[in-house]
Amino acid sequence: MAALDHELLVERTEALDEADLADLCEATDAAIIEGGGFGWVEAQGREALARHFRGVLLVPAIELFIARLDGVPVGSAQLIRPPRNNEAQAFGAQLTHAYIAPYARGHGLARLLVRRVEERAASLGHRVLNLDVRETQSTAINLFEGLGYTRWGTHPAYARVRGRTVSGHYYFKLLEPPHGRPLDMRAGG
Ligand SMILES: CC(C)(COP(=O)(O)OP(=O)(O)OC[C@H]1O[C@@H](n2cnc3c(N)ncnc32)[C@H](O)[C@@H]1OP(=O)(O)O)[C@@H](O)C(=O)NCCC(=O)NCCS
Repeated sequence: MAALDHELLVERTEALDEADLADLCEATDAAIIEGGGFGWVEAQGREALARHFRGVLLVPAIELFIARLDGVPVGSAQLIRPPRNNEAQAFGAQLTHAYIAPYARGHGLARLLVRRVEERAASLGHRVLNLDVRETQSTAINLFEGLGYTRWGTHPAYARVRGRTVSGHYYFKLLEPPHGRPLDMRAGG
């Protein structure tokens, strides 16, 4: 899938103006209604989603990335960094809540979004990116496996969606450091 004549942009966001927030909320509800991503099962409406994103921007451990198609926010992802007290796992971070609105899919934006989050995580010193996905989200599974994520486990009771228990897959990817040596995966390394 190629970008063709669309402008694709992913940026880390520290503030959202009202117009961008409105577009982002619309994109989020559209993704929820279509059935994928973000943990929510039912559409939330603009007010609840705006509260969510304003809250996310206040949390130091979370970085918000916005995907834009022709300048308009159409999706997002969050990079969650480990708490400061978790020194032993400070080398890892979590990619979560990644989605693109159905009307903006197929242009390569999700691939760009994930790559930007990976680059940022690596630049912050993280060497591992972890994520998990419902087994039913086959497009996302293709996306992550295509980007080199390794599935290391499946949780049989991962989520409940409309009264049904759904299993979920857990993935990780080793990140290339901008400088220095890659992570040594050998035990004790
Ligand atoms: C998964 C999702 C983010 C992909 O968004 P997108 O912008 O359309 O994806 P891209 O155009 O960047 O495509 C990247 C890769 O995703 C996979 N993919 C995208 N659309 C696909 C489709 N219709 N069928 C199968 N695989 C597909 C492919 O591996 C594709 O790589 P390719 O172009 O080399 O074939 C989007 O479908 C989505 O938001 N789904 C619901 C939410 C979700 O599952 N989120 C992830 C859980 S955290």
